[in-house]
Amino acid sequence: MGSSECLSSAILSLILSCVWLGGPCSCSARTDSIKLGEGLPFSENLLVSAQGTFTLGFFSLDTGTYLGIWYTSDVNNKKVWVANRDKPISGTNANLMLDGNGTLMIIHSGGDPIVMNSNQASGNSIATLLDSGNFVVAELNTDGSVKQTLWESFDDPTDTLLPGMKLGINLKTRQNWSLASWINEQVPAPGTFTLEWNGTQLVMKRRGDIYWSSGILKDLGFEFISSVRFATHHSIYYFISVCNDNEIYFSYSVQDGAISKWVLNSRGGFFDTHGTLFVKEDMCDRYDKYPGCAVQEPPTCRTRDYQFMKQSVLNSGYPSLMNIDTSLGLSDCQAICRNNCSCTACNTVFTNGTGCQFWRDKLPRAQVGDANQEELYVLSSSEDIGKRLYVLHSEK
Ligand SMILES: *[C@@H]1O[C@H](CO)[C@@H](O)[C@H](O)[C@H]1NC(C)=O
Ligand SMILES: *[C@@H]1O[C@H](CO)[C@@H](O)[C@H](O)[C@H]1NC(C)=O
Ligand SMILES: *[C@@H]1O[C@H](CO)[C@@H](O)[C@H](O)[C@H]1NC(C)=O
Ligand SMILES: *[C@@H]1O[C@H](CO)[C@@H](O)[C@H](O)[C@H]1NC(C)=O
Ligand SMILES: *[C@@H]1O[C@H](CO)[C@@H](O)[C@H](O)[C@H]1NC(C)=O
Repeated sequence: MGSSECLSSAILSLILSCVWLGGPCSCSARTDSIKLGEGLPFSENLLVSAQGTFTLGFFSLDTGTYLGIWYTSDVNNKKVWVANRDKPISGTNANLMLDGNGTLMIIHSGGDPIVMNSNQASGNSIATLLDSGNFVVAELNTDGSVKQTLWESFDDPTDTLLPGMKLGINLKTRQNWSLASWINEQVPAPGTFTLEWNGTQLVMKRRGDIYWSSGILKDLGFEFISSVRFATHHSIYYFISVCNDNEIYFSYSVQDGAISKWVLNSRGGFFDTHGTLFVKEDMCDRYDKYPGCAVQEPPTCRTRDYQFMKQSVLNSGYPSLMNIDTSLGLSDCQAICRNNCSCTACNTVFTNGTGCQFWRDKLPRAQVGDANQEELYVLSSSEDIGKRLYVLHSEK
């Protein structure tokens, strides 16, 4: 690929009103690094970056225990990175360890260690949580200065893009930088949606099929993300798009100290710190066509006029079909149901929100007080919804 041809760099400054600064750390003398041979026992606060911006620690969900990173100031502790997203450990008997060989790993009682920097270890290294949110294993010179970075969490993104992280591809290593949504809030494992940079656009895929794309980066922003929406951000983004012989990537930055993250959620929503939406949840499955949405051709038995409504129905017995694949989430179930002409409603199967079940019959809507009510995602045409609203209204 001709490197000069595709090199482009767009720097934007958008309307500034207030920038939320990550305050200096007044909190603790906790360290930001693990030294060679050191093991840190299970804790919610293992490491805090030098200025206190990010915290790394263990956290537990219904599905197990994970190692993650979050903004220290985030009251919800929303994770920006998860080390073992598809290898939850059970219980709290766990250590984060940089062993004598420089291998960074989670040691736990339930099985083999979970290694983060396989083939990138060195006997003279240190693991440090940086104020960028990057967790880095660096090889040291004999005088203690950093010789080279061996491994970094920014090379293994989860569902969140932080300032300075890359989306794209390293042409030398064939390393891919892309986001993959969680399956749902309880299950951090890679779910339905991915977000990639293809050299000119951000591209969201649903199970490998293009779902949405941003349009090209130009002037004040992306073609299909209106600059009006960017301007409501209360912060400044600088966009960088690089394409050379080594790598092709997109990245963004913000003013020093500003808290920012872009998150891809399990329903295909893509939004930033302030909740400003780049892409709304389920946006490309709605009646209205939104710019950037790839055409989701409905089967011939349906029109685009159908969408899922969460409704209480009288449970008329059993679903007609179950799929207990625990890598499937709600968005998968809806896509499968929408594409099957005999499917009328769907839901997930397990309490952790995975698996799919499908119904074939038209399910009667439950009334207040009815026994055997169940909340399902019912495929309804806009006409149906209009009628129901009207009926509800006129019954009063
Ligand atoms: C979700 O629940 C199912 C059924 O209990 C289980 O098989 C699966 O492992 C769970 N998923 C996770 C990530 O814990
Ligand atoms: C370092 O690696 C060697 C070879 O894999 C292994 O035998 C040794 O136990 C390791 N040392 C430590 C401290 O883990
Ligand atoms: C990068 O990831 C995408 C999506 O998973 C995949 O289609 C592509 O083949 C990958 N490229 C390389 C070089 O691994
Ligand atoms: C990037 O994705 C867009 C939207 O799918 C597509 O039109 C464009 O051709 C792609 N560009 C490259 C270089 O693959
Ligand atoms: C469509 O759904 C029906 C009922 O849910 C099921 O019996 C059938 O196997 C499905 N067909 C396909 C092609 O998935």
